[in-house]
Amino acid sequence: MKQIKIAKNSGFCFGVKRAIKLAEEAAQSYKSAFTLGPIIHNPQMVDHLNSKGIFEIDNIDQLDDRPVIIRSHGVPLYELDIINNKNIPIIDATCPYVSKAFEYARKAGEEGYEIFILGNPDHPEIIALKSYIKGDFFIINDNLESLPETRFAKAAIICQTTQNSQNLEQLVNALLPKVNELRVFNTICNATNIRQNATIELAKKSDVLIVIGGKNSSNTKMLATLSSAYTKTYHIETAEEICSQWFENTPFIGLTAGASTPDWIIIDVYNKIIEIVGNNSNFAKCVEEIPGYKEESYEF
Ligand code: F3S
Repeated sequence: MKQIKIAKNSGFCFGVKRAIKLAEEAAQSYKSAFTLGPIIHNPQMVDHLNSKGIFEIDNIDQLDDRPVIIRSHGVPLYELDIINNKNIPIIDATCPYVSKAFEYARKAGEEGYEIFILGNPDHPEIIALKSYIKGDFFIINDNLESLPETRFAKAAIICQTTQNSQNLEQLVNALLPKVNELRVFNTICNATNIRQNATIELAKKSDVLIVIGGKNSSNTKMLATLSSAYTKTYHIETAEEICSQWFENTPFIGLTAGASTPDWIIIDVYNKIIEIVGNNSNFAKCVEEIPGYKEESYEF
């Protein structure tokens, strides 16, 4: 007897739904537009948009007179300045939660706080965020031991929106003895918290857990890291990557998906697993029966 369950709120978050909607509207209004870097970190969704005339470019010099869509993770201020001077239509799909973190970074820098960014220095969100900071900053990823020895009069922490609250707590604890005043901007977004908590709860019950989403997606990778502390975990992008051996001696199978994973991929993976393990009566027979699945589903 096997059971399969999808974590609550798997798939698109508010910011991603908004970005995709803006891109699809741009495709309709302008026929063709650019995004600087992928609009979201999901290669399959980027390909889908490509077929509608939304093209990813990786350099500002590749822009012509077509509109540019600012991706959900935002772009650095210096790039924004160049784009503004080009006199082309700009569609800002930066997630409002990401913009909020940029605003905190700008203000804290102006107010003279030493800024500690908790996040991946190579991630576009962090590359953009640091451009808003006037003054010094440190980026802390998994290098807590490298915190400066210096004592600071005032310091502020700002997080990548897809960070994990335990990492934030660790940074707060490590910094507290070193500063007179510490401001913590908890910019981890609610969609991240909800998906991480649901994944941990499901991982605790599962004999195997499949995490679905872009291999370049920070929030998806974080779900895989968190899940692997509790159960055997596989991170895949599409159903084609599934191996039937993963489901041997696994009475309870869990599925979860990152905030940038489209519904159709989740459904494909779900159907593929059912095909592999057999049509057992304990399985939901169609997507509508999957508990919690419809709560945040995105309509194409
Ligand atoms: Fe925005 Fe949070 Fe999604 S920052 S893009 S709502 S994961």
